[in-house]
Parts: sequence; C-alpha cells; structure tokens
Amino acid sequence: MKNISNISLSGKKVLIRVDFNVPLDEYFNITDDSRIRAALPTIKKVIQDGGKSIIMSHLGRPRNEFEERFSLKHIVKYLSDLLNTSVRFSGDCIGENTNTDISNMKNGDVLVLENLRFYPEEELGDPAFAKQLAKLADVYVNDAFGTAHRAHASTAIIADYFPNEKYFGLLLRKEISSLKTALEKPKRPFTAIIGGAKITGKIDVITSLFDIVDSLIVGGGMAYTFVKAIGGNIGNSLVEEDKVELAKSLIATAKEKGVQLLLPTDSINASAFNNDATIQNSEITSVPAGFMGLDIGPRSITQFSRVILNSKTIIWNGPMGVFEMENFSNGTKKIGDAVCRATENGAFSLVGGGDSVAAVTQFGFTDKVSYISTGGGAMLEYLEGKELPGVVAIQG
Ligand code: 3PG
Ligand code: MG
Repeated sequence: MKNISNISLSGKKVLIRVDFNVPLDEYFNITDDSRIRAALPTIKKVIQDGGKSIIMSHLGRPRNEFEERFSLKHIVKYLSDLLNTSVRFSGDCIGENTNTDISNMKNGDVLVLENLRFYPEEELGDPAFAKQLAKLADVYVNDAFGTAHRAHASTAIIADYFPNEKYFGLLLRKEISSLKTALEKPKRPFTAIIGGAKITGKIDVITSLFDIVDSLIVGGGMAYTFVKAIGGNIGNSLVEEDKVELAKSLIATAKEKGVQLLLPTDSINASAFNNDATIQNSEITSVPAGFMGLDIGPRSITQFSRVILNSKTIIWNGPMGVFEMENFSNGTKKIGDAVCRATENGAFSLVGGGDSVAAVTQFGFTDKVSYISTGGGAMLEYLEGKELPGVVAIQG
C-alpha cells in the first residue's frame, strides 16, 4: 500500500483527510476521542518531517450549511493538547480566507479546516469541489478509515487530482492490515459476534460472514427477531416484523453452510426501557407479556464464552444488550471479558462499530483486545467483501 511511512513530506503542504466524526456532549466536550488519537501518528509524521498538515474532516450530518454544533472548531483545542502544539483553525474549507490561512503556515504547522459537509458538494462527490480542495495542497493523504466506504469529494474524488501524490495514512494502512489478518487465512476456529439493535444494516455482513466463520454469535436487540422467527414469545422486545422471514432464511443458510449460529438461550427482561424498571429473567423463547428483553442472560453468557474462549480469530461488532444502562450491561461486559481472555491465550481479536468500541472503553478492555477499529460502517462493508471507495481511490 502506497503510504507515507517511506517518503519525506518536508516543506510540503499535506492535505490529510481524517475522520474526526466524534461524539460531542451538549457543551461540545468530546466524549470518545479514539478517532482523534488514532489519527495522531500520521499528523505527527508530517510535523516531524517538517511538512504543513492541513486537516479536513466531516462532523455529524449537517443539513449542508453551517451549523454551530457541527463546527470542527470544537475539536481544535483538544487536538492542540494531544499534539502539544498550537493548532490553528480555518473558518472554511475552501476559498479566499482558507487560502490565506494556508499561506500563513510554516513548516511543522497544523491547520484544521471547517466541516466539509457544510457544502452539499462533499457528499455528492462533486468533482469541481474536489478540485478546489485539491488546489490547497501538494500531497493528499487519506487516513479516514471510518469514512472510507463513502465516495465523497474529500474521500475519493479528490484523489484524481493527485495522480502521483496520493497516499494512505498510517491509520488507514493499519486498519486494512488488521482486517486482512482476520480475513485472509484466519486461524481457526473463527468466531464473529454480531449485536446491536437491528438486523437492518447487518444482513449483508451476516450473509458474507457465513462463508468465512465457523461460528456466528447473535446478541443484542436483533436477537429477538431471530427468536420470533423460530416461534418464540418475545413479549414487548424489539422486533423488526418485516425481517422475521429473513431471519428464518439466515438460520437456514447457516445450517446449509455448516456455520454454528448461536442465539441467546435466556434473556434479562424489563417492564420498561429504563434502568429502574422491574427486572426478571426468562428463557429467551418465553419473554412474558409486558416485558422486553434488554440483555442476554447467564446461560447465554456461559455458552457464548465457551465458544469465544475456544476461538483463534474473533470479530466483534455490536453490543449484547443495552450496556449504557447498568442493569443491562452484564452481557456485553462478560462477552468482552471472554474476548479479552481469548486474546490473552493467543487469539486475534478485532472490535469495531461505535457502540462496541464505547463498551470496550467503558469496561477498560481497550488494551486487552488485538485491534480496535475506528470504522463502523466501513468495517462492515469491508467484511462484506465490498471495495471501499476511499481505498480504491488511492490504489487506482
Ligand atoms: C461514521 O461515523 O459512520 C463515519 O464518520 C461516516 O459518517 P456517515 O455515516 O455520516 O457517512
Ligand atoms: Mg455511519
């Protein structure tokens, strides 16, 4: 992969596409900085080489115009502290003022541009907009793995304007090599753990994983649609009625392909979607009327953990329950614990997706898994075997 590690960026204006789409609280404090930290090696490399780092990103999904809460100015002080240097901010990402801000930069300086998505042209992949961005710099570096599944102006189209000066950043390179470790000649048994609220959005990845893994564990809200498909009573649990037939066919496909598909066997139920609701346990196929399943139960934990501990390659995307609420966090925590123990015993473990990464951070497992991906959708699309436009643009 053509990346920046072996080249000198001394004196160059380097336009770095990062994914600083991080969660902010109501006071604009960053509540999870993993994506910012993950981009530091690339920025530091440019600083050390004596190049000028011009950083561009999106933040959230603004309605294609300036919105205070989505301004990237909120991350500038934080980035300055992490880099231990005074990072400057440009109030736009193209135009006169941005040109001036860039011409005032000295070698080693870092400048953050305003949110690319304040221009509708960004998501439309508009070539004229991409060209304007390209004019800002000598070199283009894509380090935005989290956005590599988008064919946007700054992630893909822009590369056309740097035929010889386009590179992968150090994060993007590491993300792809970790995914390759898991997917190409994985050590077996290979287990995927898929959770989260809905099957929608995970169908393609589940189908693709059936061709690769030995076992697939399903947890989280989506498990109840599978349980309904096998004729269980799920009370008031989350269900996607229009996906029940699909869940049935996924169960059949797993059987055909010889994949062990594991559904939870018991459920922690609540009278309301609330940490303080009345709580009880049941078989997952007999959630009482008036109750909703919000976590996997102890027998499921034991069964899943046994499979995980026996695995040599593990991919995890999506929590097992509503871990944000203390009373429904046990399943996710115990499954995370099993993943860490398997890793300690020599398994390769890869965790991705905003919620699972937040859980891993919350439970202090960050250093105990092999790799934490900064990609949610991008990781899923890679696992589905799709080409990522952000990757293809640099390779092509
Ligand atoms: C993400 O968090 O999924 C990436 O930053 C991409 O954002 P998007 O889903 O709004 O395109
Ligand atoms: Mg997304």
